[in-house]
Amino acid sequence: VGDVSGKEITTIEGLKGPLADALRDAWIEEDVPQCGYCQPGQLMSAASLLASNHRPSDIDIDAAMSRVLCRCGTYQGIRRAIHRAARRK
Ligand code: FES
Repeated sequence: VGDVSGKEITTIEGLKGPLADALRDAWIEEDVPQCGYCQPGQLMSAASLLASNHRPSDIDIDAAMSRVLCRCGTYQGIRRAIHRAARRK
């Protein structure tokens, strides 16, 4: 928490715009969430990745998403959803 003291923070509730819309739609179409516990972190990581890399490879996706664990194992769906969102935004 100390590392972000005084900095602007965006949470899942503040994720808006074409990128957020593309990710939300792709997440639904790929039926990604299971229990949902990790999904805010997954979506924020995906948004950060696509903001800097418009056409990420599978390796790019795996590296970018490696910090958010999903106990339900939705990684393949997440990868498909990120590719789908990248094609739309
Ligand atoms: S959807 Fe359950 S932990 Fe990721």
